[in-house]
Amino acid sequence: MATIMLPGLVDAHVHLREPGATHKEDIASGTVAALAGGVIGLLDMPNNTPPIVAEEAFREKKTLFQQKAVSDYGLFVGFDGSQVAPLVALAPQAVGLKLYLDETFGDMTTAAPEALRRVFAAWPGPGPIAIHAESASIRMALRLAAEFGQRLHVCHVPHPADLDIIAAARQQGVAVTCELTPHHLFLSAEDTERLGAYGRMKPPLVPSDEVRGFWERLELVDMIASDHAPHTRAEKESATPPPGVPGLETTLPLLLHAVDEGRLTLARMIELTYHNPLRVYGLRAPADSGVTVEVGEAYRLPATGYRTRCGWSPFGGQWGLGRVAEVRLRGQVVWQGGQCLAAPGYGQPLGRAHESGQDATAQ
Ligand code: DOR
Ligand code: ZN
Ligand code: ZN
Repeated sequence: MATIMLPGLVDAHVHLREPGATHKEDIASGTVAALAGGVIGLLDMPNNTPPIVAEEAFREKKTLFQQKAVSDYGLFVGFDGSQVAPLVALAPQAVGLKLYLDETFGDMTTAAPEALRRVFAAWPGPGPIAIHAESASIRMALRLAAEFGQRLHVCHVPHPADLDIIAAARQQGVAVTCELTPHHLFLSAEDTERLGAYGRMKPPLVPSDEVRGFWERLELVDMIASDHAPHTRAEKESATPPPGVPGLETTLPLLLHAVDEGRLTLARMIELTYHNPLRVYGLRAPADSGVTVEVGEAYRLPATGYRTRCGWSPFGGQWGLGRVAEVRLRGQVVWQGGQCLAAPGYGQPLGRAHESGQDATAQ
């Protein structure tokens, strides 16, 4: 069996659910799932209960991560349409500002133009403004980013046509970056019949011709991030299933299999899952870290048996390649033989690469 060494993944889009919904996932289970998936650092979204939109909530969440995380991490602040001043105060500690311009899980959608203009005018960086947005809202955010000179990051781009719009804006000088999820690359709307609510997320899966469109435009994409959004089976099987799927443990085998199939190079995979997430968010790679992957035959990913508390995956039955044998994080072996060896609290905040984060969009 061949062994390959990778720098590890930095997953710039996860929902670890603590505080507020620890029956779905918590910082301990979520960061263990990260290490199991070869993810050494993750960026956690602010749609918690309570939402992370003010200083006290941010401070409490930061304390929980300091106590419990076993992987490295960064935390977003969010905006709920009300106060901008606390976000400005928190900006130096946050990896970025997250805006929800369209409906999704949680209660943070802010589409009022007046509120958006206030926050685009005030956000001081150095992290970008990251958006959850459907196509029309992406256009609006690109206009605001241009007007206010803000750095914009488009999360989980919903359609390949949006990648063209983002690329055109970039051509015109807008500082915009973007991400795709593994579920939009490896599943399609045709899978939703089979998956039911387990295949439901925002933005939704697209038809297979659009999936092809994503692959054809992969050079326009800055990063692949899981949008790990666990919900319990009971919630998914309820009359009102919430949107979202877990993904921390499946990105690496899915992408390694795609590399093996010649759909992208290994170097490009590392750029999309490690170098670029760090670059876009202006973060420093943890020193003396890396992931050892044992690569044997391709295999079908299991539907159950994951470390995420929700315990299921929408990728069951998909082709994967490689198994994480060992993870080193800042000089210490934190994962080996399917076991987490790091004590709770070993995880550290990802450090800033530059004081200003200025050249973060330089290609
Ligand atoms: O499907 C989704 N689930 N999309 C989001 O934007 C939020 C996420 C969640 O938090 O469950
Ligand atoms: Zn989202
Ligand atoms: Zn998300």
